[in-house]
Amino acid sequence: MKKIILGLLLVPCFLLAQQKVSIIPQPVSLQLDKGNFTIDARTTISYNKADKSLKATANFLASGIKKISGINLSQNKGNFKKIEFKISPTNEIGEEGYLLNVTPDAVKITANSNKGLIYGIQSLFQILPQIRTNAVMAVPCMQVKDYPRFKWRGMHLDVSRHFFSVDMVKEYIELLAYYKMNTFHWHLVDDQGWRIEIKKYPKLTEIGAWRVDHNDKVWSYRPQAKEGEEATYGGFYTQEEIKDVVKFAAERGVNIVPEIEMPGHVASAIASYPELSCSQKHQLPLTGGDYTNMSSNYCAGNDEVFKFNEEVLTEVMALFPSKYIHIGGDEVDKTAWKNCPKCQKRMQNENLKTEEELQSYFIKRIEKFIVGKNRKMIGWDEILEGGLAQEAVVMSWRGEKGGIEAAKMNHEVVMTPGNPVYFDHYQAGPDGEPLAIGGMNTLKKVYDYEPIPKELPSENSKYILGAQANLWTEYITTNEGVEYMILPRMLALAEVVWSPATSKDWNSFNQRLKWHFRGFQQKGLHYSEGSDKITITPRIENGQLSVALSSEVLGCDIYYTLDGSDPNGNSIKYNAPFLIDKTETVLAASVCDGKVSKGIPSKLDFSIHKASAKNVSYLNNPASSYQANGNNTLTDGVRGTFNVSKYWHGFYAKDLVATIDLGETTPVRKISLGCLQNTGDWIFLPKAVKFEISVDGLNYKEVGQEIMPLNKVKDSKAIYNFATSFVPQQAKYVRVTAKILPELPKGHSGEGKPAWLFADEIIVE
Ligand code: ACM
Ligand code: ZN
Repeated sequence: MKKIILGLLLVPCFLLAQQKVSIIPQPVSLQLDKGNFTIDARTTISYNKADKSLKATANFLASGIKKISGINLSQNKGNFKKIEFKISPTNEIGEEGYLLNVTPDAVKITANSNKGLIYGIQSLFQILPQIRTNAVMAVPCMQVKDYPRFKWRGMHLDVSRHFFSVDMVKEYIELLAYYKMNTFHWHLVDDQGWRIEIKKYPKLTEIGAWRVDHNDKVWSYRPQAKEGEEATYGGFYTQEEIKDVVKFAAERGVNIVPEIEMPGHVASAIASYPELSCSQKHQLPLTGGDYTNMSSNYCAGNDEVFKFNEEVLTEVMALFPSKYIHIGGDEVDKTAWKNCPKCQKRMQNENLKTEEELQSYFIKRIEKFIVGKNRKMIGWDEILEGGLAQEAVVMSWRGEKGGIEAAKMNHEVVMTPGNPVYFDHYQAGPDGEPLAIGGMNTLKKVYDYEPIPKELPSENSKYILGAQANLWTEYITTNEGVEYMILPRMLALAEVVWSPATSKDWNSFNQRLKWHFRGFQQKGLHYSEGSDKITITPRIENGQLSVALSSEVLGCDIYYTLDGSDPNGNSIKYNAPFLIDKTETVLAASVCDGKVSKGIPSKLDFSIHKASAKNVSYLNNPASSYQANGNNTLTDGVRGTFNVSKYWHGFYAKDLVATIDLGETTPVRKISLGCLQNTGDWIFLPKAVKFEISVDGLNYKEVGQEIMPLNKVKDSKAIYNFATSFVPQQAKYVRVTAKILPELPKGHSGEGKPAWLFADEIIVE
């Protein structure tokens, strides 16, 4: 009788186990066994009481279990059913790894450190129900061996552009820890707000933490105060609050790296202490934090600035035990330094030839101070400019170039390239998504990220500490917005930085993600369901244009139309790339279980003409970041749009000179070049476009020119076809020369610098 009941119980429990183990990040090895361990009121947490540090870990486990079940686990009482954790020297798993061994009688977690034990507990939590329930607390029997691939598994949060409460910061840290991320980069200082109490400099928070509220909360700078207006928008953390957050994080194995930005991006500090800037006039309406006509940098020629920063850092280091202290260092506008007698004198005295070297002097002097306190300095990759400080750690954000350069010089590096780990970029849409800063970093792009660049010699790969996602909040004003932008992309990153590269499996990740989505729903967390957009990719092969369709949505089909109608389950089902041989529009959508995905369909217009799919050669190469569809961009039939930058070929400072080989001599009567203007992004229509044809590829004859039309000059955004029509003439080659605007106009933020030129297609008829 007993045997039969056991047998009946075992089968469903085993099935349950298979469904419910959806750990993210994927453990290094996980073997499910039959049976399960049930947590109930008789379960005790067992550990070595002599080790005081384990008490907090036991409490962390107990409170987690209480939250979901109401059960109060005893500690070190009885011997009947134990969740036992033990610090014991264990090979292979390193400082943060753990072994989790579940049998019907006990759950055993073994690690080399408390951090490992916490991760074992997090894995346990991910197996159990995620919210309060009366369900049986069954843990499937299993053996797990798990340890991280990288030691820096970071998430950044900008609390300066918009302030987020202590509660929100704790929620953020809790989410990090649940997914075994171990570094919280707290961006505490920027132009828009100084967020950390500094006892020696109280005005930093009395003034610097607040700005006037003009109801323009998205992308608010420090707007100018009107007469009598008070600065009421903002906030800061007291030192007591910071200590509390640091302790909260440590209990979850999370180290907080504070960022105290310098020498640029510090309008908030300058508003508080104007004497720290280069400006000779300090006429600030201080309450508004307006610094108009002032530099938002510290003066690099003023010794008081170094004394100030050292005293600030002294208080910061007393609050944060982190080995790494972040000093910012990005995007310093050096204009004020160029015009400042003190800065120029410093350059003379120190024999510094450029303002980049002055920045390097600034950073090196600060590094010396930080190293003297037995810490390590980390900064954005601009700290490479003008010479890298001796032991500095580089956070590579402008792509991976800075990181590669630093790692080659044997400096530690954290990879955080804008593409794909800036989580302030869109993850879907952009139609229907909350307004974001631009760019598209979808879940799959994050999942596919590899932090060790291929170009890095293998002996230098050990300098890549890991990777981090950054959440800048110019466009994120609410807690819900923060949740939405990191969920679920942080889960993809967690798998990138924790799990072995060889175990990456997009399908498996998506399967496991379902369990976590359910948890988000149950907990009321805001998250993105991901991009249901179909990617339409033009391909040119053997002189023919075809189109490939792909999707990040698993288990669904792709349907498309060519007649302009919205696709549905009755449209053409996509199986393989198809040819495009006439001017038409591709519209495509995912169809899941017979239902069309909720987003609007992806759409791409194709123009087919005499130069379609023909080879193009360039006198000046397009910029590496705007390669679009490579050398075939101008003949791939795809027209660019205002929203999507990837179809535009970008040229900087040099003219576009493109020659197309039509393959045979043929009558030509019209040539045009499609161009973009988006003045805010420094993209201007060319000054003029010249069209030429040739039969032999040596002797060219001009067939027309078009000057930039005057009525377009003032448009901030425009797409315009420069064109010429003529009596048909024989041609085998077509050459198009577009003259770039050499200097951005007066009053433009880039006044005097060259413009960008963006082109999408050369149409030959
Ligand atoms: C940065 O995104 N400016 C580091
Ligand atoms: Zn100066």
